[in-house]
Amino acid sequence: MQGVSSYSGIVDGAFWYILGISAVLLVGITIVMIWFAFRYSVKRNPNPAQIHGSVALETLWTVIPTLLVLSMFWYGWTGFKRMRDVPQEAMLVKVTARMWSWSFEYPDGRRSQELVVPVGRPVRLELLSKDVLHSFFVPAFRLKEDAVPGRTNHAWFQADKAGSYDLLCAEYCGDQHSKMLGTVRVLPDADYATWQANPPAMVTGPELLAAKGCTTCHSQDGSRMVGPSFKGLMGRKEMVVQTDGESEVTVDEAYLRRSILEPKAQVVKGFDPVMPEQRDLLSDEELDEIIKVLQGL
Ligand code: CUA
Repeated sequence: MQGVSSYSGIVDGAFWYILGISAVLLVGITIVMIWFAFRYSVKRNPNPAQIHGSVALETLWTVIPTLLVLSMFWYGWTGFKRMRDVPQEAMLVKVTARMWSWSFEYPDGRRSQELVVPVGRPVRLELLSKDVLHSFFVPAFRLKEDAVPGRTNHAWFQADKAGSYDLLCAEYCGDQHSKMLGTVRVLPDADYATWQANPPAMVTGPELLAAKGCTTCHSQDGSRMVGPSFKGLMGRKEMVVQTDGESEVTVDEAYLRRSILEPKAQVVKGFDPVMPEQRDLLSDEELDEIIKVLQGL
């Protein structure tokens, strides 16, 4: 697929350059090898002449590959530098990765589940992870950068064509890794201004569970996934593991609230403490809505 970022041409150029050289060498060496095996077999040469070194040949096969490899390095390096130097005027978006979804925060405090940007303008991404190593990968932009827990990584892109592009996680991050998908929506300036001016209506009802990634780990039909099922949740008695041992809790609003904001405080026995804290990922209204939906299930 054709790249649509301002630097995708350089990435593709370096890729085809290295692939081309590799292909020529592979074919060339294979042909020469087969020819030599045939031409210089012992059958045809019962009394071979011995050769002891050739300065000309050895110089050639040292100098040519060195130049080739240096040219590959130069090609890759100039492209890499371009991809690391973020233009001054770039707009900033904070990207938060967690098991197993992406979320985005804009300078005006707005948040979204898909990345929405204007066409033809540079965007600086600050990449954070709430839990484990993830990798922000947009093939159409030729952009891939790790989101590392405990540090902020950066990347940037400028999309030169409006459209919707796939966002993937390119680092194995647990059993739902392949479902850690997202979308980058690149809008023409006018549409972007409209998007900016109209804060989206909050997703409500059961769809909010999917939008916030809850349903990747919690089933609604009682089946066991990464976390306990939502089925029959309210009023259920659960043994939980906490720092000072185990205790029994009855699932009520207070327990749900705590389990969403600080999931590791009281983990239902038999499950791993892998859920990331949702404190900065949900607004107060969204938290209230999720509780309401869970109570209604
Ligand atoms: Cu996140 Cu794979």
